[in-house]
Amino acid sequence: MPDDRLIRAEGLIRSIPDYPEPGVLFRDITPLLADADALRATIDAMIEPFAGTFDVVAGIEARGFLLAGAVAIAAGVGLVPIRKAGKLPRPAASVDYALEYGTATIEAHDDIRPGMRLLLVDDVLATGGTLQAAHALVAELGGTVVGTSVLMELDALGGRAVVGDVHTVFGA
Ligand code: PRP
Repeated sequence: MPDDRLIRAEGLIRSIPDYPEPGVLFRDITPLLADADALRATIDAMIEPFAGTFDVVAGIEARGFLLAGAVAIAAGVGLVPIRKAGKLPRPAASVDYALEYGTATIEAHDDIRPGMRLLLVDDVLATGGTLQAAHALVAELGGTVVGTSVLMELDALGGRAVVGDVHTVFGA
């Protein structure tokens, strides 16, 4: 049975044409984040398939952080940030990945430890490059990704084929 709170939450995601550049339809989740009931329903839905299976949440900078903290508190676990290059005082692992033009790098501390079970959290799955790199980063530190939970999947960009098994609350 569809959850009425989630239907309402999905309706709060705004579509902004031509942002950040012409031809792109940007999905703005800030109205959903601003609504207590919608935020709670969305966080619960992100956790639900993985409840009790993970030791820590790994949130991906920057918009993934907005969800990862809430997921961690709601699930009663801690949080490890996966950051863009140059933001951590003591990077322990680093993975480069391809963007449409050029490359990017994500980094994490060794707070991700061998044997740790992680839930990866981000806001959007697009091409899948970011989450694929996050998987590699966790593996480099010896952690285990037990699940990947994303608020919204942009179906047309094919990220699911790159990332594999991923739980998404909303599609577009
Ligand atoms: C966005 C989004 C995801 C990523 C998804 O992050 O938050 O992390 O893109 O894209 P992909 O599936 O094609 O890799 P972005 O780097 O734009 O920045 P932000 O979160 O810092 O705004």
